[in-house]
Amino acid sequence: MTANAAELREIVDGLSGEVKKISPKYFYDQRGSQLFDEITRLPEYYLTATELGIMRDNMDEICALVGERASLIEFGSGSSLKTRLLLDHLPALAAYVPVDISGDYLHACAAQIRDEYPHVDVLPVVADFTQHFQLPSPAITPVRNIAYFPGSTIGNFEHDAALELLRVMHHEAGENGALLIGVDLQKDPKLIERAYNDSAGVTAEFNLNMLQHLNRDYGANFDVTEFAHSANYDQDNGRVVIELVSQVEQTFAIGNTEFNLANGEAILTEYSHKYTIEGFADMVEQVGFSVAKIWTDTQCMFSVQYCVRA
Ligand code: SAH
Ligand code: AVI
Repeated sequence: MTANAAELREIVDGLSGEVKKISPKYFYDQRGSQLFDEITRLPEYYLTATELGIMRDNMDEICALVGERASLIEFGSGSSLKTRLLLDHLPALAAYVPVDISGDYLHACAAQIRDEYPHVDVLPVVADFTQHFQLPSPAITPVRNIAYFPGSTIGNFEHDAALELLRVMHHEAGENGALLIGVDLQKDPKLIERAYNDSAGVTAEFNLNMLQHLNRDYGANFDVTEFAHSANYDQDNGRVVIELVSQVEQTFAIGNTEFNLANGEAILTEYSHKYTIEGFADMVEQVGFSVAKIWTDTQCMFSVQYCVRA
């Protein structure tokens, strides 16, 4: 199967179960990546500003841990916003390896990083990081690999898939390496729900754009106007449930496969898990990491964690 046939199969399978779902990785075409970048600047979306604040406040300590001549491998690099902070303070990196599924966006961002940081060996990799992919070899041999996974993107994976991804990072970090990861924490559900239901409607547009992406690249025929964005915090499971809710009874197709949707029936497009400090420590320990350092903001909204081999 080509990658595209495998993706089509994944989409059709996801829509064929009792709960209809599409992987959140299909949010990220060029437009989806731009919309996510807009989300990070929304006043309601506390995650980005809080994580940036934590990094700024603790930059010296973070850089001392990363050390000299590391290779920084970023999983889901997007606009590399937070990475710029690291690049500003880590002049002796062996390489920066941004990995992202959104190819055109990744290449544009990598070109910009190269312009801004001409001394850094920038080696972008377009890949689905949940599948096997090849990492490039930097010209300078790195002292260690740092798997960098900011933004709490880990929260978009269900428990087993999150463990699998952490296992890959444990492997890529190797003997001397580490994981530097942004982890969103459980808090007042109202604050969380507001972050995913912004008043400007950007998150709604981001969610609906997935259907346009599938129409353009995967032979779907969604009528985007017949869907509405929905995001609710499920406190029992500690996660935001993000859906596209059908506003009518309708039929749509992906290629030759037809699906029916009742009025009010939802397609699940994303979970965004929120963690406790203990719960996340449990998860990384299961794959062989131990949490060496945790930085948080004063209200414990978000955490940045440094995990080393146990
Ligand atoms: N790290 C950035 C961006 C987070 S948005 C930040 O902290 O702000 C999530 C990013 O992960 C997007 O750029 C998206 O394209 C990428 N992504 C999501 N699923 C992916 C997958 N399976 N493989 C590779 N990249 C993925
Ligand atoms: C990328 N990821 C961490 C975002 C989140 O908060 O779960 C994706 C997102 N979905 C809606 N808004 C932002």
